[in-house]
Amino acid sequence: MCGVVGAIQRGGGVVETLLQGLRLLEYRGYDSAGVAVLEAGAISIRRKAGRLERLEHSLSDGTLSGARAGIGHTRWATHGPPSDENAHPHTDAEGRVALVHNGVIENWAELRAELEAAGVRFASDTDTEVLAHLVGREVARGRELPDAVRASLARVRGYYAIAALAQGERGPRIVCARSGPPLAVAAGPDGVYLASDVLALIAHTRDVVFLEDGDVCELELGRPLRVTRIDGTVVDRPTRRVEWDPESAGKGSFPHYMLKEIHEQPDVLARTAFDRLRLDKGDVDFGVPGFGDHELRAIDRIQVVACGTALHAGWIARYLIEGLARIPVDVDYASEFRYRDPVLAHNTLALAISQSGETADTLAALRLAKTLGARTAAICNVVGSTLVRESQATILTHAGPEIGVASTKAFVAQVVAAFLFAVRLGRARGVLSLAQGKELVSELRLLRPKMESLLGERAVSEVRDIAQKNRSQRGFLFLGRGINYPIALEGALKLKEISYVHAEGYPAGEMKHGPIALIDPEMSILVVNSAGPLAEKVRSNLEQVRARGGHVIAIGSDRESIAQSDEHVLVPECSEWLSPILNVIPLQLVAYHMADLKGLDIDKPRNLAKSVTVE
Ligand code: AGP
Repeated sequence: MCGVVGAIQRGGGVVETLLQGLRLLEYRGYDSAGVAVLEAGAISIRRKAGRLERLEHSLSDGTLSGARAGIGHTRWATHGPPSDENAHPHTDAEGRVALVHNGVIENWAELRAELEAAGVRFASDTDTEVLAHLVGREVARGRELPDAVRASLARVRGYYAIAALAQGERGPRIVCARSGPPLAVAAGPDGVYLASDVLALIAHTRDVVFLEDGDVCELELGRPLRVTRIDGTVVDRPTRRVEWDPESAGKGSFPHYMLKEIHEQPDVLARTAFDRLRLDKGDVDFGVPGFGDHELRAIDRIQVVACGTALHAGWIARYLIEGLARIPVDVDYASEFRYRDPVLAHNTLALAISQSGETADTLAALRLAKTLGARTAAICNVVGSTLVRESQATILTHAGPEIGVASTKAFVAQVVAAFLFAVRLGRARGVLSLAQGKELVSELRLLRPKMESLLGERAVSEVRDIAQKNRSQRGFLFLGRGINYPIALEGALKLKEISYVHAEGYPAGEMKHGPIALIDPEMSILVVNSAGPLAEKVRSNLEQVRARGGHVIAIGSDRESIAQSDEHVLVPECSEWLSPILNVIPLQLVAYHMADLKGLDIDKPRNLAKSVTVE
C-alpha cells in the first residue's frame, strides 16, 4: 500500500505541503518517494529510492519552492524493485502528464505490449507507467486531463488510487480517481487537497470527501470539487467531519509511534467502551442502528473474516461470543474465505474486523459473504473507510490514528469492541441475565488501572530485561489456551514483524503433537496463563517444556506458573473474558524492546505496510 498526496495552493509552496503529507503517510509505504509539480506551466519531477529523507534532501535546493500545484507518493513496491526509475511519479514519453498510483493494474502487461507496439518506450518496470502513457496518449489526442483519465481508466482492470496532473492546461488542475484503495479529497481555505489517508488532510481542513470506488475527482482552485463516474456522470458525495486531532498523530515524547500507541491503550479502552456501557441495565448501547434486540435475535451464526492482527481479535471474538451469547462463530482468514467457495448457514452475520477498513482481502471476503446472503457488520477504526461504508452496521473503535505498522492499540480496541458486542448479543438473546451483564460491565470499567499498572516504569523495565536476556535466542514459541490462545498468536506475530526473529503461536494443548520437538535451551517459550479453569492444564504444558530444558517465560495472573518459570511478568487478575487485553501488553512490549535492542526500524518494519490494500 502506498501513500498518495496532491495539492493546489493559492500562495505557492506546494512542495512543503506535499512533503508534510508524505511524512504522515510514510508508514504506508517507504521504499521510495517522489513528487511532480507544475512550475511555470511545465512539469518538474523529483523522485528517489529509499526513505523520504532522501527525497527531502534532493528538494532542499528550493528550486521548486514556488510551485502551486503538485502530487506526491511514497511507495511500497509491487511491480519492479525500489529504484529511482521505479519511484513515482511516472510520466508519458513527452513528459506532458505525471501520475502517481497506489494499487495494482492487473492487465498492465497487455496494455504495455499494445503501447510498445505503437512505439512507446518504457523507462521503468512498473505497472503505473502504463497508465501514465495511456493518459498522455489521450491528452495528445486533444482530450482534456479529466476526460483523458476517464478514457484510460475505462481500459484498466485492477485496483487503483491515482492522481495526475498535466502541463499546458488553462490553469493548475489535478485529477484523481479510486477503485479499491482509499482516496479522500478536500477544499480548504488555502487550497484543494487529496490524500490516501485523512491524516494528510486534517492539517488543512476537517471537512473531507471520501471518494467511492469508480469515482473520478477534478480539483481546481476557486471551483467546487467535481466528482464524476468513469463514464462522466456527475455524482454528489457528502462531506464528512473528521474529528481526529492532528496532535494525536504525532509521537509526542515517545521514541516510536508503536511505543506511544502501546501506552495509549488504557485511554483507547475508555474511548471505545465507556460511553457505551449501561451499568444499570447490565448492557451496552452502541448508539447506532443494527444492534437492537430485534436485529440481533435474527442472527443464528456468525462468520468472522479478517487478516493478521485483526484476525487474532476475531479469534478472541469467537470465545467471547460463544461464551457470552451462545451463538456459533466461525473464524477464517479473509484471504482463504474469499477463495474457498464457502457455504454459509441461514441467518449468518458476516463480521469483518479491520483497523484500516481498506484491507483488500477483508473487503473481498465481506462482499462475498454479502452475495451469499449474509448480513454484514464491521469492527473498524476509520470512519470513512470502504469497510464502514459497505457494512450494514459498524462498531467503530476509537483508537485514533494508528501509525505504527505493527498494530497494538487498534488490536486492543477490537477486542474491547468484540467484548461489548458479545455482551449486547447475550443480553439481546436473553442468555446473559441482568446480574451477569452488570458484572461484566463492571469488570470492564475496572480494567483501565490494571492496564496502566502494566505500563508503569517497573513493569516495563522487567519486560526490557526479558528482551535483553532472550535477544539471541534461536526461536520463540508462544503458548496459550482458550481465550488466550489467540494472544499467543498475536505475541508471536508482533515479535516476527518488528524483530525479524522466528516466532510461532500455538495452542498449549497442541505442543505435544509436534512443536515439542523444537524445544531446547536456545528456544524461549512464552506461556500465557491466567488464573482460571484452564490454568492447571497450561501449567502441565509448562512443566513438559521445562522437563525438556526449554527456557520458560510465564505471562499472566496464574501465580503457580510464575513460580515454575525462568522469567515472568505477573499480570493483575481480572475476568477471564478480559484477560487477553491485559496479557497482550507485556507481549507487545517484549516485541518492542527486542526490536529496539536490535536497533531495528520499529515503526516501519522491512517488507511490511500498514494496510494491505492490494492482494
Ligand atoms: C498487524 O500488526 C499487521 N500490521 C497486519 O497483520 C494487520 O493487522 C493486517 O494487515 C490487517 O490490517 P487491517 O486491520 O487494517 O485490516
